[in-house]
Amino acid sequence: MCGIIGYVGSRPALPILVEGLRRLEYRGYDSAGVALIDDNLCVTKAAGRLSVLEQVLDLNAPQTAGIGHTRWATHGAPTDVNAHPHTDSSGKIAVIHNGIIENDRALRTYLEREGVTFKSETDTEVLAQLIGMLYDGDLEQAVRKALREVSGTYGIGVLCSDEPNVIVAARKGSPLIIGVGKGEHLLASDAAAILAHTTQVVYVGDGEIARITPDELRMTTLDAIPVAKDVEQIEWSLEEIELAGYDHFMIKEIFEQPEVLENCLRGRLDLKENAIRLGGLVDCTRELTRAKRIILTGCGTAWHAALVGEYLFEELVRIPTEVEYASEFRYRNPVIDDGTVVIAVSQSGETADTHAALAEAKQRGALTLGAVNVVGSTIARETDAGVYLHVGPEIGVASTKAFTGQVAVLAMIACFLGRRKHLSPSAAADFIAALSAVPKQIKQILDTADEAKKVAQQYTDRENWLYLGRGYNYPVALEGALKLKEISYIHAEGLPAAEMKHGPIALIHEGMPVVVIATAGSQYDKIINNMMQVRSRGGSVIAIATEGDREIAKQADHVLYVPNTLEPLQPLLTVIPLQLIAYHAAVIRGCNVDKPRNLAKSVTVE
Ligand code: G6P
Repeated sequence: MCGIIGYVGSRPALPILVEGLRRLEYRGYDSAGVALIDDNLCVTKAAGRLSVLEQVLDLNAPQTAGIGHTRWATHGAPTDVNAHPHTDSSGKIAVIHNGIIENDRALRTYLEREGVTFKSETDTEVLAQLIGMLYDGDLEQAVRKALREVSGTYGIGVLCSDEPNVIVAARKGSPLIIGVGKGEHLLASDAAAILAHTTQVVYVGDGEIARITPDELRMTTLDAIPVAKDVEQIEWSLEEIELAGYDHFMIKEIFEQPEVLENCLRGRLDLKENAIRLGGLVDCTRELTRAKRIILTGCGTAWHAALVGEYLFEELVRIPTEVEYASEFRYRNPVIDDGTVVIAVSQSGETADTHAALAEAKQRGALTLGAVNVVGSTIARETDAGVYLHVGPEIGVASTKAFTGQVAVLAMIACFLGRRKHLSPSAAADFIAALSAVPKQIKQILDTADEAKKVAQQYTDRENWLYLGRGYNYPVALEGALKLKEISYIHAEGLPAAEMKHGPIALIHEGMPVVVIATAGSQYDKIINNMMQVRSRGGSVIAIATEGDREIAKQADHVLYVPNTLEPLQPLLTVIPLQLIAYHAAVIRGCNVDKPRNLAKSVTVE
């Protein structure tokens, strides 16, 4: 989704802006642009990849202040004209904007009546023109006045050629941070864009305006009340967000899973006392143990992890648990009674629908928790309590290590609460021991990663795949299908295996790949029956099975083995071969693995 970078200091701004935009590419975009400022404003923008923009930029430009943007089209096609920055009619003011101005039609009509002629179809130009119309020598004041007129969401950066060396930024619902350097300040929508320059940041809050110059950062509310902010330290290093010799971020992140899950579990699994320690839940443990109902919410892969969470909470905590797509929850007039806990699951902590669902839950009085990866993100800061994933930055658009991190965190929360309810000490001890073994078990699966590659090689020419699973592995079937479709553009459907006979079985034909998660457990016999049903109709079965299962090969065309673990923890292992199949299928088909078409890493608009 759109990305923002800005710089004011003493160094030439352009290389810093371009490098920042490159680090934001992973979020997904279809055009890019920059504005540099000294006595004049100089705007350059181009549809397409960043490399297209670079060809028309003078990389030796001397200006020491500027803003840059990667746009993901919402209002108007991805063209040069619609790319950001947008300027007002005087050509003095430039604006970059993430989010959506919802009353842009009404504002456009008003401005046109006042004689403004628009160049683009975007809501952002409306904002630039409005600021231009209200400008009377004080940029911050003009931005403040303009923002009082707009409804919708925004993270913006604004320049004015009458005030070189000043960037005014503001935020409502779209993340923004200020990087604090020596004699320089940076502006970004995502820490990845500025990490090469500083790890000291100030988070811009909703309804806040920041005015930055090389030496000064001034924060106020929309009503001009000064806001005191702390400078915080970002934990992620630049090395963590670089490729480290891998061809793509996705495969790097798949292979990082043993190590990052160790980080996720470290200090939280107490194998001596057979206890789970979750510092983030200490203050609300009493309220949590009294909860009568849990609602898990999220989008995409996070929603799949939440589905695993539903099974975990019901089994270990014995509390009624539901999973809701955040986009449905926020508009559904949900019933939140006393004792309802809402857990928002999100890698980025910035997904617009998940954030809105959380706000709705808070307004209705729910206790809210976050299972979030990005420290300091909006959802992490707005929940009452939470548990970070600690799996490091995830750059590949297709989520992999965040899924296993989310499941691991939900498993820990379930065991933590379970012990305070119905879970026996010995069952908890078994669970904790099994969870602590997971990182090494994932490593074992990755050591045989070539097997998954062979499957991908054999079937990538097939345009329709099915993924089947039961119980804890049903969400994994959904996740496996999502991974395949989002990066290789092969159509894939995930199903609870028993549902196949209620319709999708009609699709099965000679050679159709059907991935069946058939690990040892309570529903093993039933899933073997499902495999037979597929094969008797000519489908090719790719089974994910437990090591040592000697029978399964008779019922499958291919078997990918995973180590044995407790049933509730199987998703942490069974998802790995499915991530690998999707990755290799996309590479073989020549797809852009880390930046699949039409997708964004963090969906910050509805
Ligand atoms: C986008 C991404 C998905 C991700 C989903 C939720 O659709 O492409 O990979 O699962 O957003 O993102 P979140 O950051 O809230 O986990």
